[in-house]
Order: sequence, then structure tokens, then C-alpha cells
Amino acid sequence: MTTCKVGYIIGSLAVQSINRTLSNALIGLAPSELEFTEIPIKDLPLYSYDYDSECPSEGRALKAAIADADAILFVTPECNRSIPGALKNAIDWASRPWGKNSFMHKPSAVIGTSPGVIGTAVAQQSLRSVLSYCNSPQMNAPEGYIKFIPGIFRNDGEVTGSGTEEFLQGFMEEYRDHIVRVLTVLPSRI
Ligand code: FNR
Repeated sequence: MTTCKVGYIIGSLAVQSINRTLSNALIGLAPSELEFTEIPIKDLPLYSYDYDSECPSEGRALKAAIADADAILFVTPECNRSIPGALKNAIDWASRPWGKNSFMHKPSAVIGTSPGVIGTAVAQQSLRSVLSYCNSPQMNAPEGYIKFIPGIFRNDGEVTGSGTEEFLQGFMEEYRDHIVRVLTVLPSRI
């Protein structure tokens, strides 16, 4: 298999984000065929369709980064049982203008961590629904609801528990297989 470019989007804007730590762990455990680039979302203005006629540089950069990626990985916290506003804003930006939805046919996967017992499960269901509407073929399983326990990751993302490490490694192997399957039947149009 050739290398696949994965753009990853972290739903949190926090400097000490535990989802950023999870991203580092996932990248460290991913199969070697996957190459990762973060797609930043923090500088995007709040989306309005007024921008459709003249897209600012932040919006253009977001859409270019998604176009350049073979697949997208969302790593997100849960905020009030949904996805953070910044992440929804980024998805709204990428999905527009009408007819230029950046997620169309772009394989994706969703995972996240929070200290709560259900580990972002509700946010992920919400995100899955948004991605369905955006026609992004998303990995159905395994689901990655990671309850964050202090010490579960070292700061560089290294996983301390072997069960968690094995799960995350399996998650990324399934994700690679998902990307290959989707790109086999829906080759990139760009
Ligand atoms: C939260 N948090 C949270 N956790 C959860 O499991 N379910 C939830 O609905 C919420 N809601 C929520 C709302 C708001 C406004 C905040 C600030 C926090 C807690 C959240 O999971 C925790 O702050 C994580 O550390 C956030 O992940 P990052 O930003 O560190 O990656």
C-alpha cells in the first residue's frame, strides 16, 4: 500500500488538551503507511454564508488542507453532550460554499477522550450525524470512547496501560483498512 495522508482535527482549543495527547498517542501507534498532519481550526472566524463570496485566508487554508488529505481523523472532547463549538464551526466552514463540500467522499474516523464515564460517546454520536450529512464515509467500528484517567498517557502521548495501547493500535489499523476500502471504490476526485 502507498502512503495515505491523514489530516487530523482536534476539537479542543485548549493548550493542555487531553485530546491532543490522545492524538499524539494515536499517531505513535498508527501503521507506518499513515502520514499525519494537523489541520488547525483555532483561527477560523465564526462562519456565515456572507463569507461564501469572498473566503478569508483561514477558510481557504482549511479547505486546502482537507483537499490535500486522503482522510480525516477527528479527535474531540465532549462539551455539554455535543461537540465543541469550534469544531462545529470548522465543519461548517469546510462544508461550504454549497456544492464545494470538502468532506464529500472523504473517509473519516471519530475518537475522543474525556474524564466522564462515557468518554465522549454522546459528542461522537452527534459528530457522526454531522459527517453523515456531509457524505463523509466514516469508520463504523471500533468506537473509541476513551475515559481519561490521569496517568493513562505520558505527555508525549506514550500510553501507559497495555490494554489501552492495544485498543488504540487496533483502532488505527482498522482506520487504515477503512481508508483503503473507501479510496478503492471512491478514488479522490481532486
Ligand atoms: C466539559 N466536559 C465534559 N465532559 C464530558 O464527558 N461530557 C460533557 O458533556 C462535558 N461538557 C463540558 C462542557 C464544557 C463547557 C467544558 C469546559 C468541559 C469536560 C471535558 O471533557 C474536559 O474539560 C476535557 O479535558 C476536555 O478535553 P480537552 O479540551 O482537554 O481536550
